[in-house]
Amino acid sequence: MIIGVPKEIKNNENRVALNPAGAKELVKRGHTVYVQHTAGEGSGFTDAMYEEAGATILPTIEGTYAAAEMIIKVKEPIEPEYKLIKEDQLIFTYFHFASHEPLTKAMVDSKAVCLAYETVEKTDRSLPLLVPMSEVAGRMAVQKGANYLEKPLGGKGILLGGVPGTLPAKVIILGGGVVGTQAAWMAAGLGADVTIMDVSLPRMRYLSDVMPKNVKTMMSNEFNIRKMIKEADLIVGAVLIPGAKAPHLITRDMLKEMQPGTVLVDVAVDQGGCIETCKPTTHQDPTYVIDDVVHYCVANMPGAVPYTSTIALTNATLPYAIQLADKGWKKAALENPELVPGLNVIKGDIVYKAVADAFDMPYVPVDKYLEEELVNS
Ligand SMILES: NC(=O)c1ccc[n+]([C@@H]2O[C@H](COP(=O)([O-])OP(=O)(O)OC[C@H]3O[C@@H](n4cnc5c(N)ncnc54)[C@H](O)[C@@H]3O)[C@@H](O)[C@H]2O)c1
Repeated sequence: MIIGVPKEIKNNENRVALNPAGAKELVKRGHTVYVQHTAGEGSGFTDAMYEEAGATILPTIEGTYAAAEMIIKVKEPIEPEYKLIKEDQLIFTYFHFASHEPLTKAMVDSKAVCLAYETVEKTDRSLPLLVPMSEVAGRMAVQKGANYLEKPLGGKGILLGGVPGTLPAKVIILGGGVVGTQAAWMAAGLGADVTIMDVSLPRMRYLSDVMPKNVKTMMSNEFNIRKMIKEADLIVGAVLIPGAKAPHLITRDMLKEMQPGTVLVDVAVDQGGCIETCKPTTHQDPTYVIDDVVHYCVANMPGAVPYTSTIALTNATLPYAIQLADKGWKKAALENPELVPGLNVIKGDIVYKAVADAFDMPYVPVDKYLEEELVNS
């Protein structure tokens, strides 16, 4: 298969979808890999490293899209990329369709096949291609939160772990999944007083078993959230309902109940945010203040640590990229059920129900395409 790796053009996105080690694996299997000039530069990989791995460097993004049967990238395509995507082309990347209607419509119109990293799902319902970036974002959420709690940056002026004779900061984490767990480890490690709020009792039982003493768990509901936010210093939003928009657990009116200088880091911003007043920000201008509460809502947090993120991401995506390249998307999906929920849009049809429902658009079960393949094979 001919695989294209374009350079990411979203603001401050320095990750690349394939590292030279991954390119070498694909080339070894007989595939052609085109990498756009300087695509890996932000992550520390030069064109020469890709060439040494057997890939070919193409000078432009247009040329890279035009040449490829499968595009592997990191972030969802942004507007200037819509027109570069071709009918029948396989696009393997993060999409987060449910929170982005124009992108959904553009991909439907393109008649491409869109396989979304974030909805590839293992049989135990875990999301293997979200995990590495969630690990990075969870750890970073506390690093950022601690920073913005400093007075000159708008925060309360409290040190996360305090010092002997002072109380540590109170950190509330909404959602105890991958992001929440990694955030809790970091906050606990710095000595904060941490509470993880989730709706899953089994998850909270597990967290109670493995977390250190300065981490508690609490059922997530409006009553408890209203109680906890009054004294919180840092609140991390880390809720996920797979393929759907995040629920607004913190509503606009709740900001008035928080103390001035409280910091909100809504990691779930890429799914619409679990804080009502959350709107996506960039690494260049990451925060804004409403009612004296600092909001940090960067939608591509791992983009700021591209070296760690690129390697973590490609470790997870490469095995799937190899299956797609070796077999084509239909056969790969038939042979590996983990890929089936990853299919979101196929040749003009939305085949992922939560995405169709989010925009009241028609839903076509993915079986239509997979049965076709069974009949033909
Ligand atoms: N901003 C970024 O750069 C970035 C990077 C990575 C991940 N994310 C996002 O972070 C979010 C969390 O991802 P994850 O991998 O931790 O997901 P996850 O599935 O591992 O965890 C989600 C958790 O939310 C819990 N939950 C569901 N409803 C809840 C509610 N009402 N109250 C409290 N908890 C609830 C679930 O029980 C689960 O434990 C997702 O939206 C993901 O897309 C953002």
